[in-house]
Order: sequence, then structure tokens, then C-alpha cells
Amino acid sequence: MQDREALESLVRRLPKAELHVHLEGTLEPELALRIAERNALSAPFPSVDAARAAYHFENLQSFLDVYYTMTDVLRTEQDFYDLTWAYLTNAATQNIRHVELFFDPQAHLSRGIPFGIFIAGILLALEDAETHLGVTSRLIMCFLRDQPVEDAARVLATAHLYRDRIAGVGLDSAEAGYPPQLFKDVFDQAAAYGMHRVAHAGEEGPPAYIAEAIDVLGAERIDHGVRCLEDPALVDRLVRERVPLTVCPLSNVRLRVVPSLADHPLKRMLDAGLLVTVNSDDPAYFGGYLVENYVEAALALRLTRDEIVTLVENSFTASFLSDEAKAAHIEAVRAAAALP
Ligand code: HPA
Ligand code: ZN
Repeated sequence: MQDREALESLVRRLPKAELHVHLEGTLEPELALRIAERNALSAPFPSVDAARAAYHFENLQSFLDVYYTMTDVLRTEQDFYDLTWAYLTNAATQNIRHVELFFDPQAHLSRGIPFGIFIAGILLALEDAETHLGVTSRLIMCFLRDQPVEDAARVLATAHLYRDRIAGVGLDSAEAGYPPQLFKDVFDQAAAYGMHRVAHAGEEGPPAYIAEAIDVLGAERIDHGVRCLEDPALVDRLVRERVPLTVCPLSNVRLRVVPSLADHPLKRMLDAGLLVTVNSDDPAYFGGYLVENYVEAALALRLTRDEIVTLVENSFTASFLSDEAKAAHIEAVRAAAALP
């Protein structure tokens, strides 16, 4: 599809799931300024325009530096509620019906914010979104792979108190030089708690990290995973085992994982038969939310209508929803896709 308006109308109309979005990466500069002001903090940037103008990144680390700086304005339960609610209300306007949301406890604990404060704000907003917007969710707690493993183990022990409200664990932050196996014991413990396991792998790190995340950490889903194409045997395996890959096109361009959207591997991944989904990662920083990721990728890669519908169906297939809920959502996708 090459008609932008028709494409956008289709993408908006289809009910969608988002499986790879970092709560802290949804913090828009406007909200950050408001929160800084009410917490009597000096603003992390002089103006909203100045913040946006500074959002040019050389690589993952240069983005993370800004991301953690902005995150510092978040202090109270209300701050976390407002941030979560802002993302979810926006998600509802994009017809996102289900969200699996990452958050980074260590980014807050390290600043002295207690687990009970941020989790309370996040959970209340998730409940309100289900009640008032009909958006369902799962919460996935990420470990910062560039921080000590002992910190991750401590966070997991605390999170166990909220076991029924935290569906799974993930692994994020700087990837290269921090192989998944460092977190084997922590992921084993999460598995023993009955939690789902996912991991960022093959974004900046090598394809070997993808296999390691599956084999050593028991990852059920790989976040990004775009570098799998460098290893054909790995691709065969991911296809055979139907391991979902949560791809984030605009993020990959902004963090220079790929040179441009036209070069993005999404289409090649679909052609290879991989179970890929489209996601926004850190939408406040990368120039678009979920609809924009679909539309820009579809235009640049000349995706067909059927490919777009497949990507949207995959978003439910790859989720942690029950089989019944997945089937109901996929039926709704097909019904919406069949409209003229
Ligand atoms: N990659 C790794 N860690 C992250 C990202 C990402 O894109 N966003 C927030 N934390
Ligand atoms: Zn991510």
C-alpha cells in the first residue's frame, strides 16, 4: 500500500497489541516539564523545543543517557500514574487494545524511589485503563543488563511481593558487552516464580545473544532481534520454533541500528517466515507511536495490505494473553480488515 491516507486509515482501524514499549520511554517533554515543576525540580532541559531538538542519537548509549536523565523528574506515585495514564489514553486513540508494558525499577530504586511508590502509580493507571478505556495490559519488569546482577536479584525478590501483578521479566539497557548469560540465575528464579521471560537481544549485540537469551534465559520472546538475519541457521530455528521478535522500526533508525527505514529488515524478516511484530519502543524519543511505526515502515518497505494485517495478527499471537483472548482479538482484526 502506497497511499498514505488509506494506509493510515487501515492501520488506525485495526485493533492492535503493543508488546515492546518502555514506560519511561513514553515521557513526553511537556509532561516532564509539568512534573519537574510540581516537584520543585530544575527542568532537565530549557524548553520543550530544546528537548526535541536534542533528540539526535549516535547509538543506543547516547539515547540511554538522555532517557535516564529525563526519568529523574519522576518522584511520586502520582507522577508514575500520570505517565502511565498518558501513554494508555494515547494508546486507546490508536486503537491499541492490549499492551505489554516494560518498566525499569532500577532506574528509580537507584534514585531512592521505593518500589511501592512507582508500582502503585503504574498499577492504578493500568487498572483504570482496563476499566475506562477497555485496554488490557501485562506488566513486564526489566533488569538493566549494564548494572550488577546482584541488584537485579534484589529487585526480583521485592517484585515477588507483587507477583500476581507483574507478568514477566525482561532485560534492557546497553546490550553490547553484556551477554544474556550474566542473568541466568535471576531468570531461573523468575521462572520458578512462574513469570514470563523476554529479553532484548540482537539490537546492538550479535546474533549469538539471541540464541543465548532463548537457551540460557528461557526467553519466550526476543525484543528487537533484527540482527538474526546475519545468521541463516538462527533464522531457520526462530521460524521453526515460532519465537516472536518484537521489532521497532523507528527506534532502529533513530539509534542507527539500520541506516534508514528503506533498509529496515522488517520486510525480509516477514519474507523469511519469522513471527515479527511492530512496536514503538520509546515513542516520546523516536518520532512516533505505534500507528506511525506501522505507517512509516509500510510506506518505506512497500508492505502489502496482507502483510500489514499479518503483522497486526502477530501482535496478538505473540502476546501473553490467553488463547481465547488471542482468538477473539484476531477475529476482530479480520473483521476490521474486511471493511472497505
Ligand atoms: N534498548 C535497550 N534498552 C532500552 C531501550 C532500547 O531500545 N529503550 C529503553 N531501554
Ligand atoms: Zn526496547
